[in-house]
Amino acid sequence: MSSTLLVTGAAGQLGQRVIHHLLETYKVAPGRIIAATRNPEKLADLAAKGVVTRKADFDDASTLPAAFAGVDRLLIISTDALAVPGQRLKQHTAAVEAAKKAGVKHLLYTSMPAPENSLVSFAPDHLGTENAIKASGIGYTILRDAWYFDNFLWALPHNLETGKWYTATGNGRVSNISRDDCALAIAAALASDTAESATYTLTGSTALTTQDVATVVTAVTGRPLEVVQVSDEQLAAGIIAAGMPKFVADMLVSADDNTRAGKFDILTNDFNKLTGKEPQTVRAFFEAHKAALLG
Ligand SMILES: NC(=O)c1ccc[n+]([C@@H]2O[C@H](COP(=O)([O-])OP(=O)(O)OC[C@H]3O[C@@H](n4cnc5c(N)ncnc54)[C@H](OP(=O)(O)O)[C@@H]3O)[C@@H](O)[C@H]2O)c1
Repeated sequence: MSSTLLVTGAAGQLGQRVIHHLLETYKVAPGRIIAATRNPEKLADLAAKGVVTRKADFDDASTLPAAFAGVDRLLIISTDALAVPGQRLKQHTAAVEAAKKAGVKHLLYTSMPAPENSLVSFAPDHLGTENAIKASGIGYTILRDAWYFDNFLWALPHNLETGKWYTATGNGRVSNISRDDCALAIAAALASDTAESATYTLTGSTALTTQDVATVVTAVTGRPLEVVQVSDEQLAAGIIAAGMPKFVADMLVSADDNTRAGKFDILTNDFNKLTGKEPQTVRAFFEAHKAALLG
C-alpha cells in the first residue's frame, strides 16, 4: 500500500502516539505520513525522521487546502476547543469541507461513545461531526474513544492525598481504555487500506464503577481511598472551588451524569478487531503510572 496518510493535531498527546504507532508498530514509511498541526515547529523531531510536517489550523480555513493536498487517508483528531460552545463543531466541519475539496478518499475521526444518546455537554460536537462526515460522501472510519484511563491522573494524586474521591457517578460503569491503546487502534485503522465505512467504539475489556477503580488504586499504591457520592450541585461547587472554569465543571458533572445513567456502560471488542491485541487493564495502567499517582 502506498497511500498518503495525514494526522491533524499531530502535536497533541494522542496525535503523537498515533504517529509513533504508524512508524514503530505498523512500520509505515515516514515519507507516507503527513503530521499536520497549528505549530509545525513543534514537530522538528518527526521532520528529522522523514515525516512531512504541515500547518493545519481549523480556525484558519485558509491553511487547509495546502495542508490536505495529495492526502488519501486523513485522520481528524477532535480538538480541545470546549470553552466556546459551537467552536469545535465549526472547526471540525471546516476540516471535513476542506478534505472534500482536496479529494481525500477516506476520513477518520476521533469521536466519543454513543454521542447520539448522551448527557455529556460536548456530545453534540461529536454527533455533528460524525453527521458532517457521513453527509460529505467520503468513505469514513469513526473511532469512538471511551474515556481514557489517563484522565484519572488529573485528580487522583490529590484524591490520594486527601483520602477522598468525590463523585456523582453512583453505581454507573465506564469502560475506560488507555490513550495509548486508542492511538494504537486508530493507527491500525489509518494504516489499513479498507475503503469500507465503519464506526468502532474503542473500550477497555471491563466496565468499572468508581468504587472498582478506587479499589485498584488502593491495591497499587497501598493508600486508602474513600469514594464519596455527592449530588451534581455539590460536585460542581467543589470543581469551581478548586479553581476550574464553569464550562469544565459542566463538562465533568455531565460526564458523571452520563455514567450514572448507564450510558458509558458499553463494552465492545472493536479494539481487538482493529489491533489483534487485548487492551491494557486498569491495574496494568496504574502499575505503569504509579509514580504519577503518588505525585
Ligand atoms: N476520550 C477521552 O478520555 C479524551 C480525553 C481528553 C481529550 N479527548 C479528545 O481527544 C482529543 C485528543 O486528545 P489528546 O489527549 O491528544 O488531547 P490534547 O493533547 O489536549 O490535544 C488537543 C488537540 O487539539 C488539537 N487542536 C486544538 N486546536 C486546534 C485547531 N484550531 N486546529 C486543529 N487542531 C487543533 C491540537 O492539535 P495541535 O496542537 O497539533 O495543533 C491537539 O491535537 C482532544 O482534543 C479531545 O477532543 C478525549
